[in-house]
Amino acid sequence: MSVRSFGFYVHVPFCSTRCGYCDFNTYTADELGSGASRATYADTVIGEIRSARGRVGDGRPVETVFFGGGTPTLLGAGDLARILDAIRSEFGLAPDVEVTTEANPDSVSLASLRELLDGGFTRVSFGVQSLAPHVLATLERTHTPGRALEAIAEARAAGFDHVSADLIYATPGETDDDLVASVRGVLDAGVDHLSAYSLIVEEGTRLAARVRRGQIDDVDDDVAAERYVIVDTLAREAGLEWYEVSNWARPGGECHHNLGYWRDGDWWGAGPGAHGHLDGRRWWNLKHPAAYARAVADEVPPIAGEEIVSEEGRRLERVMLGMRLREGITVDGLPAGDLDAVAREGLVDVHAGRVALTSPGRLLADAVIRRLTH
Ligand SMILES: C[S@@+](CC[C@H](N)C(=O)[O-])C[C@H]1O[C@@H](n2cnc3c(N)ncnc32)[C@H](O)[C@@H]1O
Ligand code: SF4
Repeated sequence: MSVRSFGFYVHVPFCSTRCGYCDFNTYTADELGSGASRATYADTVIGEIRSARGRVGDGRPVETVFFGGGTPTLLGAGDLARILDAIRSEFGLAPDVEVTTEANPDSVSLASLRELLDGGFTRVSFGVQSLAPHVLATLERTHTPGRALEAIAEARAAGFDHVSADLIYATPGETDDDLVASVRGVLDAGVDHLSAYSLIVEEGTRLAARVRRGQIDDVDDDVAAERYVIVDTLAREAGLEWYEVSNWARPGGECHHNLGYWRDGDWWGAGPGAHGHLDGRRWWNLKHPAAYARAVADEVPPIAGEEIVSEEGRRLERVMLGMRLREGITVDGLPAGDLDAVAREGLVDVHAGRVALTSPGRLLADAVIRRLTH
């Protein structure tokens, strides 16, 4: 039996509007077209889950489930709980299973959060992004700062011990004070986990077009590095430690599902465009919800492509993902010359056979990892 962790990712490809910066595989009602609908989506995914059972060996209860999007909470708590029930009945859930859903602040209520908790969910991750109204406007978010804080408070009041907030920093026009108020605001509202990423200007998005036309400045890398230090300092002061370069948690609040990805675990990815990884085989589903739904209805695997990852490929991935973790990786197999050089520059610590990023190293994580894997 494999010792790797086993998780389940369920992609929900719907949003009420598309934020200007986002290039995720998600569709508004207008973009969706015919052949796929929110109303039938839960049954379609359940169809994929039932057919998945035969392709995963016995004895692998699911340790983590993560509903991501898109906006999973647009489906409604009843549909999300039904999908979770299907995973439970086909695979079995570990006794201490972690079940997360991403949520937009304006797509939940106290009642729907209670329903999620009763349905077996243990964690909610809110896309807050910022608490500054002008930053939310630049990002084209639909919620107000007040609603984001209310949603976090509702999740805590509903009984969720684990509540996370996603923030985006270094959005053009954001000030240091905007970010300080955003981080303090979500921490005070009661999250035990924080994810913070610098805004990425993705090709093909409305944001990229506005940057190209000169209507918005591009993201400044030096500003982004300073803002990262602000997030890290405030999170630590509030009792949350970094455990991955862009993720902080109170002890026990870490996202075990994402740790599974970073520690080279196995997972099934259900839903359009979802990726899965089992025992060295990687596959990805058909991207469009209509094509995906047709395949599931026809009882053929809804897969667009697959590959067997070579031993060398897996070794590289273990370095690339594991080096982002506070725990780092074992030094075995790392090129000694490169490791010595980055250690001499103070970018990594080598201790008891393991190597991990230092504080200055975290600011240059991508470059350090490139030097260790080139
Ligand atoms: C795909 S979203 C799903 C969550 C939910 N729909 C929301 O946005 O509130 C997951 C997270 O990815 C991050 N994200 C998406 N696009 C990004 C970008 N271009 N730059 C930085 N972060 C991004 C946001 O922080 C977002 O909360
Ligand atoms: S709500 Fe989330 S998934 Fe949907 S468009 Fe905005 S960032 Fe992307």
